[in-house]
Amino acid sequence: MSDNNDNIKKAAELLSQATPLLEKQHLLDYVGSFLMRADALLNACRQHGSPLYLFDQQALLDRAQQFCNAFKKFLSDFYVFYAVKSNNHPLVAKSLVDFGLGLDVSSGLELELALNCGCRNIIFSGPGKTEPELRFALENSVVTILMDSFTELERLEQVCRSLNYQVGAGVRLTTDEQELWRKFGIPLSDLEHFMNHVNRCRHVNLTGLQFHTSWNREPGPQVAFIKRLGQTLKKLPQKYFSAITFLDIGGGYWPSRGEWLQYSATPAGRLRQTIAPDPHPSTAHYKLDAQPIETFARQISEALKAHIFPVATCSIYAEPGRWLCDDAMHILLTVVDKKADDLVITDAGTNIIGWERFETDFAPVINLSRPSEIEHECLVLGSLCTPHDVWGYSYFGDRIEPGDVLLIPAQGAYTYSLRQEFIKPLANVVPL
Ligand SMILES: Cc1ncc(COP(=O)(O)O)c(C=O)c1O
Repeated sequence: MSDNNDNIKKAAELLSQATPLLEKQHLLDYVGSFLMRADALLNACRQHGSPLYLFDQQALLDRAQQFCNAFKKFLSDFYVFYAVKSNNHPLVAKSLVDFGLGLDVSSGLELELALNCGCRNIIFSGPGKTEPELRFALENSVVTILMDSFTELERLEQVCRSLNYQVGAGVRLTTDEQELWRKFGIPLSDLEHFMNHVNRCRHVNLTGLQFHTSWNREPGPQVAFIKRLGQTLKKLPQKYFSAITFLDIGGGYWPSRGEWLQYSATPAGRLRQTIAPDPHPSTAHYKLDAQPIETFARQISEALKAHIFPVATCSIYAEPGRWLCDDAMHILLTVVDKKADDLVITDAGTNIIGWERFETDFAPVINLSRPSEIEHECLVLGSLCTPHDVWGYSYFGDRIEPGDVLLIPAQGAYTYSLRQEFIKPLANVVPL
C-alpha cells in the first residue's frame, strides 16, 4: 500500500514538472526561414528525385567557423576533431578536413573514411577496439589512439611489440561510474594505477587524457568533470603527467536551437503513455533551452584555467559532432498516398533516419509544394511495416496532396549515419 502511495506521489511530482512550450512565433520564424528557400529545395527534388538528403556545405562551414572562434577566443592551443559518427557522409568529413579540422573516429571503418578524406590529424577513441583496428591505426602515423581500458593498453603494447613500434597514446576517463556509462574509459580513481601500468610498458607512452559527456544543454557537466580531474591530477606526482601533451574534452554540445520535443517525451507525456496511451498524439511542441556555444567556450575555458593549467601544460582537443552537422543536412520526401485529410504516407520511412525519432523529438514537417505557415493536424507516416514509422503529427502548409514535397529540416546529426536499407532503398545525398 505504501509503495502505491509513493508511486502516486512520484507521478504527481512528475505531472507538476511542466515542460516549457516551444514558442509559436519562434517556430513560425523557423518554418518561414525554410519557406524562403522553397524554390531551391524543390529544384533539388526536381533534379535528383525523392527521397533525398540535402547537404548544405555552407551551413556546415559556418558552424565550424563559429565553434573555432568561440573557443579560440579563450584558448590559444586548441584543436577541433569532428566526430565522424554524428554524420559519416564523406562530403561532410572532407569539407571539415579541407576547412582545417581533424577527425575523431571510433572504428576501422571510420578510420578508413578519414584517411580517404586526406585527413592528417585523427584521433581514434571508443571501447572494444579490435586487434586489426589497433594495427590499422598504428600503420598510420597521423592517428592518435585513445585507450579505453587496462586490457586495451595491454593489447596495444603487444601489437606495438610485434611491430617494434613506440607510440604515444591517450586514455579515456569515465565521467559517470554508474550503470551503463561505465562501459566508457577507466574510472578517475584508477588513473594513477593506469599511469603506473603504462610506465612498465616498453612500447606505449601516455601522452593525453580524454573525457566525453553527452547531450549537454549547458556546460555544467563538462565543467564539473574538469574540476574533478584537476583535483585528481593535483594529488599525483608531477613525473606521472609531465608527458601529457593534450586533454581532449570530447563533444556533446547541444545546438543552441534547443531540444524540441513531442508531448510523449515530456515527463507528463511519458507517464500518460505508460498508464493509458493516447490514440490521438498531441500536437503541442515543447522546448528545452540550450546555451550558445560561446557560453560553453567561456565556462569550459575558465574551468581549464582554474583546475588544469596550474598542474598540467597541455593542448586542448574537442570532438564536436552534433553541434557542427545538425543544420547541414535536410530531408526531402514526397507524399505518395492520402488516406484521409489527416493521414498521408510518404515515399521514405524512418529507415532513412535509423530510428523512431519523431515519436519523441519534434521537427516541423514543411509542405514545400503548398507553402503556408498554417499548421494542420495530420499523421505524416512512412510506408514501413510498423505504426512507429512517424515523421510527425502535423504539417505546415495550405493542404497536403499526393505528389507534394515535404521538408524535414536540420536532420544532419545521428540520422544519415544511422540509416538502414530496410524495405525501402537508401536515399541519395545531394549538395544544396
Ligand atoms: C567519445 C565521443 N566524442 C564525441 C562524440 C560526439 O558527440 P556529439 O555529437 O554529441 O558532439 C561522441 C558521441 O557519442 C563520443 O562518444
